[in-house]
Order: sequence, then C-alpha cells, then structure tokens
Amino acid sequence: MSFPIDRPRRLRRNEAIRRLVREHHLTVNDLVQPLFVVPGSNIRNEISSMPGQFHLSIDKVVEESKRIFELNIPAIILFGIPEFKDPHGSNAYNMDGIIQRAVRMIKRAVPNLLIITDVCLCEYTSHGHCGILINETVENDATLELLAKTAVSQVRAGADIVAPSDMMDGRVAAIRKGLDEAGFLDTTILSYAVKYASSYYGPFREAAGSAPQFGDRRGYQMDPANIEEALREAELDLEEGADMLMVKPGVAFLDVLAAVKQKFGRITASYQVSGEYAMIEAAARNGWIDRKKIVMETLTSFKRAGADFILTYYATEVAEWLKGDGE
Ligand code: PBG
Ligand code: ZN
Repeated sequence: MSFPIDRPRRLRRNEAIRRLVREHHLTVNDLVQPLFVVPGSNIRNEISSMPGQFHLSIDKVVEESKRIFELNIPAIILFGIPEFKDPHGSNAYNMDGIIQRAVRMIKRAVPNLLIITDVCLCEYTSHGHCGILINETVENDATLELLAKTAVSQVRAGADIVAPSDMMDGRVAAIRKGLDEAGFLDTTILSYAVKYASSYYGPFREAAGSAPQFGDRRGYQMDPANIEEALREAELDLEEGADMLMVKPGVAFLDVLAAVKQKFGRITASYQVSGEYAMIEAAARNGWIDRKKIVMETLTSFKRAGADFILTYYATEVAEWLKGDGE
C-alpha cells in the first residue's frame, strides 16, 4: 500500500490523534536526579559550569531529597566532594565520609527514596584519577579492593544501589563479592558498563574538582569510536553480576544504547551528562532554542533508543512539568 491510498499524515492531524498513536512516553518513573554534596552546613551554591545545579551541604541535600521524593521521582544519585583528598582516595570508603554521612541522613528523612551512590575514586584522589597509581599508571587490580570497600561502606550507610563508574576491569565481580561477604545479597549493582572517555564530562569535573592532575582517562574509559567493544563491556559486566547496565554519555551515544538494549534485553539506563546539560543551558540562555521543548525532545529520544531510565540534571524540573500533564 502506498500513496495516494496511504497517507501517514492522517495520524498527525490533531493533538488527540497524535497522543493516541504516540509510541514512547517519558514519565516521572524514568528519572534519576544527580546531586552534589559538599562539606559544611546551610550551603546551596550554584555550580558555575552547570548553572541551575547546586553544591549542597548535607542539611540542604536532605531538604532537596524530600522535595524530589514528593515529586514522585524514584531515585537520586549522589556525588561527594570530600573535606580532603589523598593518593588513595581514603575518603571514598571512610564510614564518616561525606557520602556515607549524607546517605545516613537522607535515609532517615526519606526512607523510600532510592539512593544510588557513584562508586569511583576520582573525586577523592589528590591526582584525580579513578584508581590508585603505581608509577603514574592506574593500577587495575589494586584499585578493585578499594572500590569494593567503597561500595560496602556506602551500602552500610544505607545506599540502595551502587553504581561503579571507574571502568576498571573486574570491578563488578569485586563489588558483588564484597557486598555478598558483608551480607548485602540484595543490594543492586547499576554498572556504568559502557562509559566513554568523553569530553562531555568537563562541567562535572569542574563541579567535583575531579579533573585528572596529569594525563587523561583514555587508559580506562572507552574510545568513543568503538561500539563492538561496548557490547563486550556490557557482556562482561552481566557475567560478573551487574543487575542493570548504563551507557554514558547520552545523545552522542544513542546508537550504543540501542545496540546494548537490543542485544541483551536487560535493564539499561542512560546518563545525560554535564556537558549535554551545559550546552542546552547555554543555548537556552542565549535565546537560541526553546529550552523546555529541547529537554523533552531529548529525553524522549533516550526512551525511543531503548533507555529504561535516565540520569539527568533535569529530573526535578521535568517532574514538575509532567505534573498534571496529559502528554
Ligand atoms: C566519576 C564520574 C564522572 C561522571 C560520573 N561519574 C566523571 C568522569 O568520569 O570524569 C560524569 C557525569 C557528568 O559529566 O555529568 N568517574
Ligand atoms: Zn572516576
């Protein structure tokens, strides 16, 4: 059947029919809000590289978490900026570290909000790399033990889901073993299975003070030119016990997201990262794009590509927009 019998425009004639035939929908259930926690109290400082996002002290993060829970967003992901950094990133696995304290306070205030913790050392190491160094190279196997320790300490504090973002080989298995030995058999691992060495993380690194002091992350994060390797990474993480996968960044890697989702049929998340957020904000602030429409179109494209949920700095705002919205 073809034109003039078939006229696809018949299904686009008005908003009611467009709603009826719409294939993909973004809902509040798809959203995870990232939050940055800093030491101190009563702090809510706008992050210069990510306008509209804030450095929050624990009391303020608790307030924000309550608001997020009331908006019916299922989960937050926490990033910590520690009091001090050292070569071994010891504040990542200190029971009194910034994340561990924040998790305890949030759990007490909003027990039913899922807390995801990012498991990595780069925010805590003085050199800014995601693992520990031996002669200026990131030592894979020595790092695994510290990552497992970090995850266990976060879960002891009350984290529901741990999300390793370091890209060391074998980290999912090491974390699963650590959690199981500590009795946390039911704690979920969301693996940043496919994480590219991307320039889109720039604004985050400024926000977290986690830019590497020398070199770059290309020795452990993936080459943006590769997709076969992405499938291999996802497969390995599933074999090691990942409950859910993530592909990161978002828009520039939607093909990878679609391929991972199609090949494994497992829960697969996507992360609209800091650089993607900053680019939309910059264009919107110049009046060059319609901010709300661009955000909704972009996040819906993640759903179309196969994302089960999305980590996005827009989560809270989108949840507000979706309230009482028939779309
Ligand atoms: C830590 C981590 C990073 C991001 C999430 N976890 C930064 C990096 O790998 O350098 C980036 C998130 C964003 O850009 O929004 N490894
Ligand atoms: Zn890292």
